[in-house]
Amino acid sequence: MNTPDASHASSSFSIPQPQAVTAGAGGAAHYVVLNIAPGEEAENAVRAFFGNAAGLRRSVGHRDDARQLNLVVGIGSDAWDRLFGSPRPAHLHPFKELRGAKHHAPATPGDLLLHVRADTVDMCQELVMQAMRALDGAVQPVDEVHGFRYFDARSMVGFVDGTENPEGQEAFEATVIGEEDPDFAGGSYVIVQKYLHDMKAWNALTTEEQERVMGRTKADDIELPDEVKPANSHVALNVVEDEDGNEMAILRGNLPFATPSRGEYGTYFIGYARNPAVTELMLTNMFIGRPEGNYDRLLDYSTAVTGTLFFVPSEPLLEALAEGNPLADEASAGDAAAAPADAAAAADTAASGALAIGSLKGQPQEPPPARKRG
Ligand code: HEM
Repeated sequence: MNTPDASHASSSFSIPQPQAVTAGAGGAAHYVVLNIAPGEEAENAVRAFFGNAAGLRRSVGHRDDARQLNLVVGIGSDAWDRLFGSPRPAHLHPFKELRGAKHHAPATPGDLLLHVRADTVDMCQELVMQAMRALDGAVQPVDEVHGFRYFDARSMVGFVDGTENPEGQEAFEATVIGEEDPDFAGGSYVIVQKYLHDMKAWNALTTEEQERVMGRTKADDIELPDEVKPANSHVALNVVEDEDGNEMAILRGNLPFATPSRGEYGTYFIGYARNPAVTELMLTNMFIGRPEGNYDRLLDYSTAVTGTLFFVPSEPLLEALAEGNPLADEASAGDAAAAPADAAAAADTAASGALAIGSLKGQPQEPPPARKRG
């Protein structure tokens, strides 16, 4: 499922095995955000968990291989500094809060992300229970959402979600870090946001009006032609290009969630990217607008209540982190140029400012592949 294909690296560079970032959204998912408890003991327990995470997934997953249990472990910016210091992934920074004229994307805490996907909820439940047993006393809950596949992959607002996700090699190239950050190759970045929908207001719209909000037809999920698709539709604002006109993709693993008795209906947005600046540009388009003020109409019916960014180490790096930062020794031994953590973070903030997306081109990496629209 996650066969690495190193074609976005030179022939002499091989990309370590990524975690299951390119797996499909799943029939069910648990999205668990945790903080690390104070103290050294908690730090040691979390590092030890990184060494055991893949084994735990195998133990639970092999009980029914057909149900495709996957685990992705993400590490927040502050947690990275606390557990591992320098060197650090080039684009790891806290989620950037966005405040548009009308809508707000808050930044909320989170040291660890567990993204657990499977065909059925029992597999997710068992793996999260085992993970929490391993992390007992070392972490504090921040947020936990259980997503489910809703009929033909519909979101709570009734539209099919995930259609234009990149697939196969395109998905790999959009999400997996290559030679541009060689120490962290095989890793990825993930941004999560929990959205709550105003279903009464949404359901008061006609189907045709909802289609203009989304930019696609509702029943058969066809993109509206450019001449009728509004510039403030969700789809129009989420098609982003680099300086050369190549469309840049992220990989979304969104699922809906709901507690009907409380009137709570939502979408858990989770977007993997090789460089989080791509997702941040999409968020800027949605919340600030492209051009400014032309914000995403979907936000008139959807409120973001969380927002956190994590680095997802490759599988071998995650395992090695159990013993501390394996790159720290190399850095202190030979690389006097290793930047201190906050200097690196500051440089990254400057370079990946969402509107300075052209900076993607300035890095020693191939641009994400051009996407052809069907
Ligand atoms: C309220 C939360 C959200 C809902 C209900 C939602 C739903 C949808 C739906 C139904 C589609 C059309 C089908 C598809 O291609 O997947 C779509 C497309 C898309 N969404 Fe969202 N989405 C949400 C939030 C976001 C956020 C926060 C981002 C980015 C940061 C995003 C990025 C995209 C992208 C890139 C596409 C594909 C555009 C294209 O290439 O046509 N979405 N979304």
